[in-house]
Amino acid sequence: MSIYSTNEWDPLKKVIVGVPEYARIPTMDKSLRVVNYADKKDISNVKSGLYPKQVVDESNEDLDVFVNFLKSEGVEVRRPNRVPTGYYNYCPRDSVFVYKNHALATPMSLRAREKEFINIVEHLGNNFSIADNYQGDDIYNEGCVGDLEQLALNEIAPKFDAANVIRANDHLLYLVSNSGNRKGAEYLQEFVGSDVKVHTLEKVYSYMHIDSTVAFLREGLLLANPSRIKSRDMLPAPFNTWDIVWAPEPVDVGHYPGLCNSSIWTWNVNLFSVNPNLVVLEKHQEPTRKALEAHGIECAMLPIRHARTLGGCFHCCTLDLVREVR
Ligand code: NVA
Repeated sequence: MSIYSTNEWDPLKKVIVGVPEYARIPTMDKSLRVVNYADKKDISNVKSGLYPKQVVDESNEDLDVFVNFLKSEGVEVRRPNRVPTGYYNYCPRDSVFVYKNHALATPMSLRAREKEFINIVEHLGNNFSIADNYQGDDIYNEGCVGDLEQLALNEIAPKFDAANVIRANDHLLYLVSNSGNRKGAEYLQEFVGSDVKVHTLEKVYSYMHIDSTVAFLREGLLLANPSRIKSRDMLPAPFNTWDIVWAPEPVDVGHYPGLCNSSIWTWNVNLFSVNPNLVVLEKHQEPTRKALEAHGIECAMLPIRHARTLGGCFHCCTLDLVREVR
């Protein structure tokens, strides 16, 4: 089978690991303004253009270590094409949702990312579809700028990044935020069919993606970001009865001067499972390592210096294609 994966933790057999070449901050447009920078009244100092060579070179060094580690664990590793694109090919997780043997290029929230899937499509098997992506400007809500109560996407068509979703077999958790609207959750529900339930997580985190807020570690065990999930009641059933590892405060390894694309929680909640007993964690996250080891989860401590600069740690910069069904 060329792809098959239904959760975040089964033993990993095949994966795409992103590449940093040609990573760029796109030219400002309405989608970028409201989706990425709704919290900023003044965006005059937001630079656009390619990330510095140092960021690309150091990310390549770190991703090579990661790739070699995965190979030593018996995992087949694929890489995106190293070609220019509207945003980057560093986070394949963001653009394509994999469930069972299906891959879906989701209707991404940023215009500059709509075609990003093209650079990984050759690895996605035959059961691949591309969601219609509404093009009208009226999907973007400029009222959200400076008003945390409003989200960036109006509910007139489905829009969501694949990284707004995490999978636990028959139950999926979908973050409603600036990078995914409720119509997107409805679309996903139709895509996966009635045997699977899409649960929404709402009013928890307004910005990009779910995977610095909750990580599924195995059936019945999740890692939660306590600065966003204040109590288990904020999670929908069935996740509110799971055991919870409350993520310790991350060790902040910093970012390239003037370039920061994510919060400190990227360092630890955005870990990546190789199997239910082994995760890849950023190498300075000792408090998180201890918390996970207490639950029988071993941590491979690896470098990824630009997780905050580029806005993705090991979960973001991967897309699992095959996890063994047990
Ligand atoms: N946008 C998220 C990171 C997602 C991996 C955050 O800043 O926490």
